[in-house]
Amino acid sequence: SDPPPSRRRPSCFALLYLVRLIWPWQGRARSRRPPPPTATARKPRRLRPLPAAPGIAKRLPRLAFVFLLAVLYRQLQAPPPKICGSPDGPPITGTRIRLSDGRHLAYHESGVPKEQANHKIIFVHGFDSCRYDALRVSPELTQELGIYILSFDRPGYGESDPHPARTEKSIALDIAELADSLHLGSRFYLVGFSMGGEIMWSCLKHIPHRLAGVSILGPVGNYWWSGFPSNVSWDAWYQQTPQDQWAVRVAHHAPWLAYWWNTQKLFPASSVISFNPAIFSREDMAMIPKFASRPCSSKARQQGEHESLHRDMTVGFGKWGWSPLEMENPFPGDEADVHLWHGAEDLIVPVSLSR
Ligand SMILES: *[C@@H]1O[C@H](CO)[C@@H](O)[C@H](O)[C@H]1NC(C)=O
Repeated sequence: SDPPPSRRRPSCFALLYLVRLIWPWQGRARSRRPPPPTATARKPRRLRPLPAAPGIAKRLPRLAFVFLLAVLYRQLQAPPPKICGSPDGPPITGTRIRLSDGRHLAYHESGVPKEQANHKIIFVHGFDSCRYDALRVSPELTQELGIYILSFDRPGYGESDPHPARTEKSIALDIAELADSLHLGSRFYLVGFSMGGEIMWSCLKHIPHRLAGVSILGPVGNYWWSGFPSNVSWDAWYQQTPQDQWAVRVAHHAPWLAYWWNTQKLFPASSVISFNPAIFSREDMAMIPKFASRPCSSKARQQGEHESLHRDMTVGFGKWGWSPLEMENPFPGDEADVHLWHGAEDLIVPVSLSR
C-alpha cells in the first residue's frame, strides 16, 4: 500500500526571506543591473566597482541574529510524528481500513455482529483517547437491544495515521468512509463524547443523510462560533482557568505556535493536557480511580502529541466557516433524533455553551 501522507513541514522559505532582508544581496544585485537602454547616443558602458564587502566584525551581529532566528524556528517546530508501522514508530496491533487518500484508520468492533444488529452505532472518542474508550455497554444490554458498536482512533491518535490537513469537515467524511468500508449500510447512529461530541455538529452539517440518530455527550464548544449571546460565551470563557484561556487562544489565533506553547516550560500550558486537578469537580475526583487503568492512556499519544492533542485543539477551537448555532435543521422530515447530554458541573467543558 502507499505510504501514509507525510507530515507537511512548514518550508524554510520564511527563514530564507528573513535572511534576505538582513543580508546586503539586494543592494548589490541592484548595482549590477545594466542601465536602461536609451534612444540617444549611448555612452560607453562603465562598470561601477562593487562596494567593498563589509568586514567580518560588521557581519557578526547579523550572523548571530540569523542564527538565533534559525534556533527559534527549530524550537517552534513539532518533531515529525512516529507513524504506526514505520521503522521507528509503534507497531500496528489492531485492524485498520485504508481511506481513499491513503491514510489508515484503526477500529474496534463490539456488541452483536453487525448483520444481526438493530442499531449500528459509531462511537467518536474525545481528547487524548482512543478506540477502546467507547462507552461500555453490558453484554446483556447489547444482546437485548441488538447493539453493534464501532469505535475508531481519530486521525493522529492510537494507531490511525496523522492527518496534518485535518479540518472540522474532514473527520465527518472519514466517518462516512469508515462506515462504507465496513458495510454499515446507508444510515448509522453516532455517539460522540467531549471533543468527539463537538464532531457531531460537523456530522450533522456534512453527512446528515447518513445518520439514523445522534447522541452528543458533553460536547466541547468553540467560543468563536457566531450566534452565542455575548454574555453566555464570556461567562463560559471565564469558567476556564487562565492557563486554559491562553492554550485555547493560541490554538485559535496562532495554531503554528500550539506545539511550542504546550511543550514549553515558561508558562503553564493546557491543564487538560497536564491533568491539572483544578479541572475536576468533587464528584469527578471520586470517579477518577475507576478510569486510572484506561487501555488508551499510553497508546493515545504514542505517535506524538502534536498530531493528536495539539491538532485536536487547533481544529476544535479553530476558525470554522460556519456555526452550529446557525445550522439549518438537518432532519426537516424528522428522519432522526438528536440527544444532547451535558453534566451541569462539568469544569472542563462549560455546560452553558451546550445550553
Ligand atoms: C445572558 O443574558 C440573558 C438575557 O439578559 C439572561 O437571560 C441569561 O441568563 C444570561 N446568561 C448568562 C450565562 O449570564
